[in-house]
Amino acid sequence: MATKTTTKKAATTKSASTTKTTKTPAKKNAAKELKDLFEDGMKDIYWAEKALVKALPKMYKNATDKKLKTAIENHLMETQVHVKRLEDCFKSIKKKAQAKKCDAMQGLLDEGKGIMEETKPGSVRDAGIIAAAQKVEHYEIATYGTLAAYAKILKENVCLKNFLATLNEEKKCDKLLTKVADIGLNSKAL
Ligand SMILES: [Fe+2]
Ligand SMILES: [Fe+2]
Repeated sequence: MATKTTTKKAATTKSASTTKTTKTPAKKNAAKELKDLFEDGMKDIYWAEKALVKALPKMYKNATDKKLKTAIENHLMETQVHVKRLEDCFKSIKKKAQAKKCDAMQGLLDEGKGIMEETKPGSVRDAGIIAAAQKVEHYEIATYGTLAAYAKILKENVCLKNFLATLNEEKKCDKLLTKVADIGLNSKAL
């Protein structure tokens, strides 16, 4: 059976270079330099972190497991520091701290809300909350990884230091959530 599926898939595989599509036209205010992309990324994650400060208490309230509740509570404290670090970054590049709506984070938070609505409180909802929270952490890890790489090229050392400090905390939070799930939450949710 597996071989059949693979063969079928291979037969329908399309290559990017031969697929008919068009190039995306740039908006008038589109970024020209890496510096612009860097600032845009900062505005985007600034919005996202502030949205998380509002969303995490809701996740806390909906979680049942003690370890999960503690992990969310601790990460809420860290997230408030992430907001503060970004404000320091804006200051160091002599720009006003500005938030720009992050559609990706809004989508992830909407998905998290949906998971809570679709699960009964207890271990199943907890498992759903962990899944939603880890998607958020992975988004943050990708974002801060990119911003740190840009900061390095642009020699924005204050930003680089702050992004790496936050990146480290996002990674730790992600690992902790995996641990909480592995300890027994997922098997309790069976
Ligand atoms: Fe964060
Ligand atoms: Fe985070």
